[in-house]
Amino acid sequence: MIMEDEKHKLARKEWEHLAKEIRHHDALYYQQDRPVISDAQYDKLRHELEELEKKFPEFQTPDSPTQKVGSPVLSKFAKVHHSVPMLSLNNAFSDDDVREWDARNKRFLGMNEGDHIEYVCEPKIDGLSFSARYEDGKFTLGLTRGDGEVGENITDNLATILPKELYGDFPKILEVRGEVYMSHENFAILNAGLADDDKFANPRNAAAGSLRQKDSSITTKRNLSYFVYGWGEVSNIVLLGDRQSLVIKSLAKLGFSIIPDDVVVGNVMIRIPLHKVEGDIKKILPIYQGVSDIRHYLNYDIDGLVYKVNRLDYQKRLGEIARAPRWAIAHKFPAEQAVTVLEAIDIQVGRTGTLTPVARLKPITVGGVVVSNATLHNEDEIERKDIRVGDTVVVQRAGDVIPQIVEVDVSKRPAASYKYVFPDTCPVCKSHAVREEGEVARRCTGGLLCEAQLVERIRHFVARGALDIEGLGEKQITSFWNDGLIKNVTDIFNLADKAEIIAKREGWGKKSLENLLAAIEKSRDVNLEKFIYALGIRHVGEVTAKLLAREYGSADNWLVTMKKLASDAGAREMVQNIHGIGEIVAESLTDFFAESHNIEIVGALLSQLRVADAMVASHDSAVAGKTVVFTGTLTKMSRAEAKERAESLGAKVASSVSAQTNFVIAGADAGSKLKKANELGVQVLSEDEWLSLIQAT
Ligand code: IVH
Repeated sequence: MIMEDEKHKLARKEWEHLAKEIRHHDALYYQQDRPVISDAQYDKLRHELEELEKKFPEFQTPDSPTQKVGSPVLSKFAKVHHSVPMLSLNNAFSDDDVREWDARNKRFLGMNEGDHIEYVCEPKIDGLSFSARYEDGKFTLGLTRGDGEVGENITDNLATILPKELYGDFPKILEVRGEVYMSHENFAILNAGLADDDKFANPRNAAAGSLRQKDSSITTKRNLSYFVYGWGEVSNIVLLGDRQSLVIKSLAKLGFSIIPDDVVVGNVMIRIPLHKVEGDIKKILPIYQGVSDIRHYLNYDIDGLVYKVNRLDYQKRLGEIARAPRWAIAHKFPAEQAVTVLEAIDIQVGRTGTLTPVARLKPITVGGVVVSNATLHNEDEIERKDIRVGDTVVVQRAGDVIPQIVEVDVSKRPAASYKYVFPDTCPVCKSHAVREEGEVARRCTGGLLCEAQLVERIRHFVARGALDIEGLGEKQITSFWNDGLIKNVTDIFNLADKAEIIAKREGWGKKSLENLLAAIEKSRDVNLEKFIYALGIRHVGEVTAKLLAREYGSADNWLVTMKKLASDAGAREMVQNIHGIGEIVAESLTDFFAESHNIEIVGALLSQLRVADAMVASHDSAVAGKTVVFTGTLTKMSRAEAKERAESLGAKVASSVSAQTNFVIAGADAGSKLKKANELGVQVLSEDEWLSLIQAT
């Protein structure tokens, strides 16, 4: 039973971890325009999350990353609803995928297999999508895509690129949609003028960063370009045409820039059928290879082709599914590859202590970009591919930022090569680096001391739920740390001695400094569970910290057992047997307290803080060790009180009913949980019955 519980808990943790990671990468990609992982790695994370949600549908909340397209809207721009949602595209990776799509379209439209649908095809521009609204021919509103429903108002910035006014025969309301991009030349010019740390990794990021400037004069200087390839709300589309290709031609006549058919290859201008081709799928498919071959001659990045059903009445009938039109599909280019030599493997330590191997390569051009580093993901990846320093390797880049090593050319391996041995100590702080069962990553255990993790640990230490020090966010911590004002977590409590230095710094007024110091003073009174949680020990979240606090009552008591964990199997077993804790947490606590410097820092913190004792859980109550679920309206106590009380008697309070539940306490109007309890044969108690049960103990 406990096994099941533990499994669920682990799955939940895994979900939280993945969701957090995806949100983090979303923010890097969409809001800061500085992604750090490849699209393929990102897709893998999303796929893992989707699989997990299939197994545990209860994790799928409306704000799960699986329920969102694109980015949450960045707050520095006003949010505006799109009049017509901005959809995304489904992907095809092979000709077969495309043929299947064609067959599906025919079935959907009730056509015979032998019938033909007319398609148009055009490059998929790797830029930033926008929507621009014209009313009576005047540009009135420009939006980013945002999450597809709500975009950011970037009217001023788009006005620097798009026509402000239209001439000719235009619909009263016309929303054009397309992609803003930065040409390769302008990208090179921009980057040449930026400091190394500020350089953009690729033109797409540069375009996105330039379009999201608060000051539109900066956008102007960045020399962005755009193509229009679609539309949103249009008051009279018939005016523009009844085919995709005709509408686009009309838009070009109105003055919009559309994807051209001409490409200059060397000194010769050649006409490559880009978006003008109209024909059935057999005519469309051969264009893919042709465009793929010349893509490097284009002045902008493309990452595939888009095929669209040409007739607008068919588009309408086909409609959309899961936020992508049925009538269009993106045929993506495969990743680009090149061969080079692996010169060294470095280990980087992430903010949360993960050791990541990075390949240092002999610089090589892959798909037009010079590559000198590649990710090696983790220990297993190196082992599996038997990647060795000195090897000749195939490097791949997929229109993204961090290239990867696909395979090793063993025939070119130097005779004196030896298998790579992954370090088991942290290269930054020399603490042990451990790998938990079932985990791919090796992690540094020197949490509170390791410089690579310090900012993150301090951020966690002072966050809500932990010491809750207001006014000490990531920004302040990073700048204090950079200037040597904070070297470890205990230094927070010495900041008062440095008040004079801080007061002189930019961004600190008398009042804000006073507030910070007062918040730090206040935080010295903390309860045991918050203190334990604040330490940021792996797998010790708020719930586990609470269980530990209730078990040991005082910091001293707790620490006595923790110090014994590494050498005393009995102590470890006792921890592991605490209801709701288990092996994984016990192991993580053991690893943490096996590092003497962690014990030193905990000791130093305890001398700065006044840690209040916790109410010790009663183990001999009738409900100790039982899992209970409260449902319906309780009349004699609040939910929070009921939970507190049950937990103090050693019960575990769960939020959903399963076969592992021992009691369901049903108040008035109990619904589905009560029903489920009855179905599963779980014992149901009324509020009064519950009270008499716990009062009897
Ligand atoms: S058509 C209804 N055509 O790719 C959806 N999209 O991955 C209309 N994109 O969100 C999209 N080039 O931002 C279309 N020639 C093209 C495109 C294109 C780039 C972008 C667009 C879309 C994303 C989907």
